[in-house]
Amino acid sequence: MKTFDILLLIFVAIIALSLIYHTVKLGISPMPSSNTAYQAMLALVNNTGTGTVIDLGSGWGNFVVRLAKSQPQRQVIGYELSFMPWIVSVGLKKLLRLQNLHLYRKDFFSENLAKASVLVCYLHPEAMTKVAEKLSQEQPQIDFLISNNFALPTAKASKKITLDDFYKSPIYLYKMPKKSSQSIRQH
Ligand SMILES: C[S@@+](CC[C@H](N)C(=O)[O-])C[C@H]1O[C@@H](n2cnc3c(N)ncnc32)[C@H](O)[C@@H]1O
Repeated sequence: MKTFDILLLIFVAIIALSLIYHTVKLGISPMPSSNTAYQAMLALVNNTGTGTVIDLGSGWGNFVVRLAKSQPQRQVIGYELSFMPWIVSVGLKKLLRLQNLHLYRKDFFSENLAKASVLVCYLHPEAMTKVAEKLSQEQPQIDFLISNNFALPTAKASKKITLDDFYKSPIYLYKMPKKSSQSIRQH
């Protein structure tokens, strides 16, 4: 085996181990939403005004890149902990010169989400429970939450779209209750 082949093998092994490590740690792989899911989610986001959109777990950047490209007047933020997807999404952002896209390699549960007007996610049931807890504790001024596949356990969706795919996957839209400034100050 040539030195180049060995180095290539080590490189591929590091990538694979990094992906496996974060998938096990976070309870979800960086699998992107399907194309039909993106279209449905983009259509929903298009009707939410011009406020900042945050993708909770932005993966390889598939959704945030499309959104930032189609709505250059809007600030788009992605949080992603898994290194490989995050670095690829940063590369795409730079390649496409998306000034309105901001990508952080951070745990979104440790971040202040108050700057968001819309949250978007494709996570798993356990994470949705934690998202619901975070939203109720921090009382940020979020107008909408859009979730691919997994429902918030504590709220009733204002809209549910059933995709025309094999699994009849749902997309949930939640209109978040407005918090009074007094209740925010008390917190
Ligand atoms: C199924 S992917 C969805 C990617 C993208 N949002 C999409 O719809 O195509 C979920 C992503 O969330 C990331 N993730 C899960 N928990 C996270 C956390 N607490 N902080 C940051 N990223 C997280 C995972 O690493 C994974 O890449």
